[in-house]
Amino acid sequence: MDGNGRWAEARRLSRSEGHRMGLRATRRTVEFFARSGVRVLTLFAFSSENWQRPRAEVNALLDLFVTAIEDELPELLEKGIRLRFIGLRDPLPEELQRRMAVAEAETAVNDTMTLVVALGYGGRWDILQAAVRWVRESASAEPEPDAFDGFLSTSGLPEVDLLIRTGGEQRISNFLLWQAAYAEFCFLDVLWPDVGDRELQDALNCYMHRQRRFGRTASQAEARNA
Ligand code: IPE
Ligand code: MG
Repeated sequence: MDGNGRWAEARRLSRSEGHRMGLRATRRTVEFFARSGVRVLTLFAFSSENWQRPRAEVNALLDLFVTAIEDELPELLEKGIRLRFIGLRDPLPEELQRRMAVAEAETAVNDTMTLVVALGYGGRWDILQAAVRWVRESASAEPEPDAFDGFLSTSGLPEVDLLIRTGGEQRISNFLLWQAAYAEFCFLDVLWPDVGDRELQDALNCYMHRQRRFGRTASQAEARNA
């Protein structure tokens, strides 16, 4: 979800104001994908590198997460959406950690869609913490990619099919590095607060026209999909 800062700066608003408008786009996005029948949606809300931003912006973002959880929880419950957070929680304010845990517990039985929010998340951190736990907990076993999946923060979730980045930048920025090994990429040239149903539908349409081969030849892939 990239482009909140530029959106605000173009309007001579504070970057924090941009993040507040970004939250509106986030709400539209969750509604759109829930309506489209998408089973798992992961939002990259705050990266492990975002801690290096100015303190005031970091604090504004953390405050926004607290209010967003509180404001959105009733709707998530109503829509049957399960909430799950991934990332390193220790550095987050206790109040935020507490609300995250409560929201996860309250939505745990929901199964319409799983909404994963990556908060304090880094793809390298995820792989590293999984490797450490894997060594500790199954040192005798041979390393198998599938068994390793179970140690990642995304354990139990499917691999990434479609990865959308807004804001015109074309890079992965330490998002789901392991999980996006065969993801299709869609880069939208629109700033996050301006994202609406039309842009999201464009991304879905783009995905529909991709042939996924997973290392196979085009004709092998066609035969499998027939
Ligand atoms: C939102 O966009 C990303 C976060 C919530 C951290 P940015 O804040 O990165 O916006 P730009 O890239 O400066 O425009
Ligand atoms: Mg950015």
